[in-house]
Amino acid sequence: MKIAVLPGDGIGPEIVAQAVKVLNALGPKFDLETAPVGGAAYDISGHPLPPATLDLAKSADAILFGAVGDWKYDSLARELRPEQAILGLRKHLELFANLRPAICYDELTAASSLKPEIVGGLDILIIRELNGDIYFGQPRGIRTSELPLFKGAREGFDMMHYSEPEVERIGRVAFEAARLRSKKVCSVDKANVLETSQLWREVMIRVGKDYPDVELSHMYVDNAAMQLVKAPKAFDVVVTGNLFGDILSDEAAMLTGSIGMLPSASLDKNNKGLYEPSHGSAPDIAGKGVANPLATILSTAMMLRYSLGMPAEADRIEAAVQSVLTQGLRTADIHTAGSQMVSTIQMGDAVVAALSK
Ligand code: IPM
Ligand code: MN
Repeated sequence: MKIAVLPGDGIGPEIVAQAVKVLNALGPKFDLETAPVGGAAYDISGHPLPPATLDLAKSADAILFGAVGDWKYDSLARELRPEQAILGLRKHLELFANLRPAICYDELTAASSLKPEIVGGLDILIIRELNGDIYFGQPRGIRTSELPLFKGAREGFDMMHYSEPEVERIGRVAFEAARLRSKKVCSVDKANVLETSQLWREVMIRVGKDYPDVELSHMYVDNAAMQLVKAPKAFDVVVTGNLFGDILSDEAAMLTGSIGMLPSASLDKNNKGLYEPSHGSAPDIAGKGVANPLATILSTAMMLRYSLGMPAEADRIEAAVQSVLTQGLRTADIHTAGSQMVSTIQMGDAVVAALSK
C-alpha cells in the first residue's frame, strides 16, 4: 500500500514525523513516499504544488498531509501561496467529502474553554463539502466597482454556487454516516438570505427521503454557530458547505479542548483520501517541539479505516491515543494542572509505546 507523505510547512514536518513513526510501528509494511508541498515546495521549485507532488498524490492509495502556510509567503500572488497546494489537491483529486469528527475525551474536558457538562462526552461529526462553494467559484477577482455609491472604487468579488449533484453527493455521505451513528443529520445553510442555500436545502430534503430512518433538520449558520457553544451535544452529524464548514469546524474543534486533537479525512467517491489534522501550520510554534501530534496521528487512524481497509489497526491507534491521555501525558495546548507536559516527540513515542501493549 502506497502512502504519499506531504509534511508541508510550519509544524507540519514535526507532527507528520510522529504519525509516520506510529504507522511504522503497526507491523504491516507501508510504502511511504515523501514529497514537498506548500511553502516548502515553493522554496525548492517555485510552485506550492509541483507536478511531481501532484503525481505522487494521484498514484498513492492515500495521502498523509501535514499543514501549509507561513506569514513569509503573504505577499505572493494568490496562485503561488502555500494554501493553493491543499486547495489544488482537494480539487484535482475530487476530494469532495471532508469528515471532521469532534470528540471530547473525558480526560480533556478541563482543557475546553466551556463547562464540563456542556462538552463532556461530546461526539459529533462535521461533514464539510470541499470542492465547491465560494472557495472555487468563478468569476472572482478584484475590479472597478460599478455600484452608484462606490463607482470607480476597487471591489473584490467571489461567486458562491452549488449545483444539485454536488449537494446530493455530500448529502448522501452525511446520511450514510448518520446511519452508523445516532441517525440524525443537521444541514446548515443560510437559506433565509442565499439562493445557493435555498437550493442546498431543497436537495437535502429530497435526498433525505431515501433515508427515512435518519432524522433531518435544518439550521441557519449563524444559529448553528451559537448552538455549537450552547448545546453542542444536541448535534450528531452536521453537513454543510465549504465556507460554513471551514468556520464551524474550527469552532467545534475548540469544544474538544484543543484544535490539536482534531483529525480529518477528505474523501473522493471511491474513498480514496487525504488525511490531515484540522489545524494549520502554526508557524509561531514551529520548530519548538511543542506542537500536539495527536490530530495527525488520529488522522492516520482515519486513513487506515476509510482508505486502507484496516479497521483493526485504526482501533489500535485510537486506543493508544486514549491510553496516553489516561496516563496524563499532555502537550502544551491541552496541558492542565496535574497533568504531565510532554514534547511533540515524547507524545509520539508514548503513542508508539502504548501501541505495543
Ligand atoms: C482548512 C484550512 C484551509 C481551508 C486553508 C489552509 C486553505 O483552513 O483545512 O480548514 O480554508 O480549507
Ligand atoms: Mn480551516
